[in-house]
Amino acid sequence: MTGEPLLRIENLVKHFHVRLGAFGEREATVHALDDIDLDIMEGETLSLVGESGCGKSTTGFTILNLYRATSGRILYKGQDLSKLNEDQMRPFRRDLQIVFQDPYSTLNPRMTVGEAISEPMLFHKLATKAQLKDKLDSLLSDVGLPTRFAQRYPHELSGGQRQRVVIARALACQPKFIVCDEAISALDVSIQAQIINLLLDLQDKYRLTYLFIAHDLAVVRHISTRVGVMYLGRLAELAPRDEIFTNPLHPYTRALLSAVPEIDPAHERTRQRQILQGDVPSPLDPPTGCRFHTRCPIAMDVCRIDVPAWREARPGHKVACHAVPIEAQA
Ligand SMILES: Nc1ncnc2c1ncn2[C@@H]1O[C@H](COP(=O)(O)OP(=O)(O)OP(=O)(O)O)[C@@H](O)[C@H]1O
Ligand code: SF4
Ligand SMILES: [Mg+2]
Repeated sequence: MTGEPLLRIENLVKHFHVRLGAFGEREATVHALDDIDLDIMEGETLSLVGESGCGKSTTGFTILNLYRATSGRILYKGQDLSKLNEDQMRPFRRDLQIVFQDPYSTLNPRMTVGEAISEPMLFHKLATKAQLKDKLDSLLSDVGLPTRFAQRYPHELSGGQRQRVVIARALACQPKFIVCDEAISALDVSIQAQIINLLLDLQDKYRLTYLFIAHDLAVVRHISTRVGVMYLGRLAELAPRDEIFTNPLHPYTRALLSAVPEIDPAHERTRQRQILQGDVPSPLDPPTGCRFHTRCPIAMDVCRIDVPAWREARPGHKVACHAVPIEAQA
C-alpha cells in the first residue's frame, strides 16, 4: 500500500426517492448515504461492515457511478466521477470493476466461459483477435481454472468455479479497483477460503485495490487493511484492521465486533458479547443527531441534537461519536 489515495470520496450523499402506500400516493426519501468521507488507498483492502441496509452496497455502487450521487464528490485520476455521464465514464469503467455475491446474475447463461472473459477484452480493445486465446488462457490460469474450461457454460460449473470466472472477467479489464460486494457470501466455507486466497494473490500480482463488503467479520479480520463501520447511511468508525478489532472506540463498533469469536480459547471463554437492543430505525426518517442514539447504551442529550463530527481520534483512526474521550484525540 502506498501513501496515495486511489479514490477520494468527499461528502458523498445518496438519497433514493420512493413512492409509498398501496397506490404509491406518498413520496418519501430513503437516506441511504449521508456525508461519507473516505480515502481509499492504492493497494489496500478497505472493508465495509454494518448491519443489513446500512448502505454498504450503495457506497460501492455510488463510487462506481452505477448509482448517481445525490451530492458530493468521487475523485479518481483528477476527475469527479459523480459529474460524468455514461459516455464520459467509459474510459474509467475499465479501471473500476465489481464482483457480486451471485455469479449467475453476472454471467450470461448462453455464453461460454471463454466468450464471457473475452467480451470485455474486445470491448475495451485490450486484445486483438490473434492475441485473445493466449490472454484467455493466462486469465484462466490466474484464477486457477484449466484452460479447457473456456468451452464450458456457467451451468456446467460449481459456485466457486463460476465466481472464479467472474473474477477472471473483471481481471480481463486490467482494473485498478474492484468492489467485492459479498463476493464470497454464497459459497461453502472451504470454497470461501480458496476465493479469499485467490483475491489476495491477485491483489499482490496486479496491485489491485479492493472495497470489500462482507457480513462475516472473521473474514474481514483476515483480509482487510482497514475497516470502515457503517450505521444507517453514515460512517461510524474507520481504522486499520488490528486497531479496530483491538481498540474499537464507537459504541456501535464495540457491539458489532463483540460478536466475533476469539481464536484463543482462553479469550473466547471470557469474551463478553454486547447485544444491541432494538431495531435499526427507518432510513426514511433517520433519528436526529447521532443516528445510533436510539440504541446507544451511553447516549447523552447532545447525541439527540448534534450530528457527531467525523474526526481523527487517534492517528489514522476516525470516529463519529460525542463520547470518545478527549484524551484519545490526536
Ligand atoms: N434502488 C434503491 N431504491 C430505493 N432504496 C434503495 C435502493 N437501493 C438501496 N436502497 C435502500 O438504501 C439503504 C441501503 O441499502 P444497501 O443495499 O446499500 O444496504 P447494505 O448495507 O448493502 O445491506 P445488505 O447487507 O443487506 O446488503 C436501504 O435502506 C435500502 O433499502
Ligand atoms: S454520539 Fe452519542 S449516541 Fe452516538 S454513539 Fe456516541 S455516545 Fe452513542
Ligand atoms: Mg448489500
